[in-house]
Amino acid sequence: MILVIGGAGYIGSHLVKELIKKESVVVLDNLSTGHQKAIDPEAIFVEGDLRNEDLLNIIFSKYPIKGVMHFAANSLVGESVVDPLKYYENNVSATLTLLKVMLKHSVENFIFSSTAATYGIPNVDVIRESTVTNPINPYGRSKLMIEQILADYAKAYDINYVVLRYFNAAGAFETAEIGESHNPETHLIPIILQHLAGYREKVSVFGSDYETPDGTCIRDYIHVTDLANAHILALESLLERRNKTATYNLGNGLGYSVKEVIETCEKVTGIQAKVEIGDRREGDPARLIASSKKIHEELGWKAERDLTEIIQSAWNWHKNQMY
Ligand code: UFG
Repeated sequence: MILVIGGAGYIGSHLVKELIKKESVVVLDNLSTGHQKAIDPEAIFVEGDLRNEDLLNIIFSKYPIKGVMHFAANSLVGESVVDPLKYYENNVSATLTLLKVMLKHSVENFIFSSTAATYGIPNVDVIRESTVTNPINPYGRSKLMIEQILADYAKAYDINYVVLRYFNAAGAFETAEIGESHNPETHLIPIILQHLAGYREKVSVFGSDYETPDGTCIRDYIHVTDLANAHILALESLLERRNKTATYNLGNGLGYSVKEVIETCEKVTGIQAKVEIGDRREGDPARLIASSKKIHEELGWKAERDLTEIIQSAWNWHKNQMY
């Protein structure tokens, strides 16, 4: 049985849909940003907070948990700058409580959701796991802190882990029953699609004076189901003792500018977007592209869905939502 913390959230709920085909699953989620209806009905759902040590002890005593996947975190860069306390409490302190309880119950296998934000503003074109980490905001730092703590814990205690550094997760489940739903929404693809579905007046491009071919920021978009599948391979590598500790990037290895993403959304939907060029958003690196060669070589994973498929799946979901 696997404990998925944050299994009602965007990435967690997609992971549960794939994992449930292979393992029984307990989801712990406080529904602060997640949605109960996104949890696969076959999973056991415990509504509660990760910071509640007593509750964690009850869960680990009650269920035969052999591994933990941890998706529950705050993940908005801008918010982390104005409210760092929230980020260090929810992303660092709560994870420490979890690790403490895991050690107490001798649960050894841990998959940790990390982020491209750990790299800060990289000085290379394609980011490898060995690229220097230098986060520029509390969100990135909160994730890197746990990465560092995990390395120390793995040396000292019986704990094995895989850290997965996500680039830009996007897209929705193939049947369109679940998708990306944040409130407020800040991510590019859902914002464009909400506009094209008639729920936003326009799309603002945050800066067109970056040092990129069309002046807008370049990101590496990865389908959430490809991400989910990487988690399952990572878990298997721990359970089968092929990995003791590992850190992997998860991206497509291809960069698309904000303008290219808007154009692809227009092509997929057949609707013209109303676009305005706005100011830069603070803390946005010009270009973030992953090398996912390491996880391909070690675990055989690669992203299978391209930007058009990502946007098509997201659109299948978004066009049926009411905002
Ligand atoms: N953008 C716009 N207009 C919008 C929204 C976004 O132009 O209305 C631009 C952003 O400036 C950025 C790109 O679109 O250049 C992508 O922005 P997102 O907000 O969709 O994603 P980010 O790259 O900012 O964030 C992602 C993850 C974060 C993570 C970060 C690491 O969602 O959790 O990468 O840099 F921290």
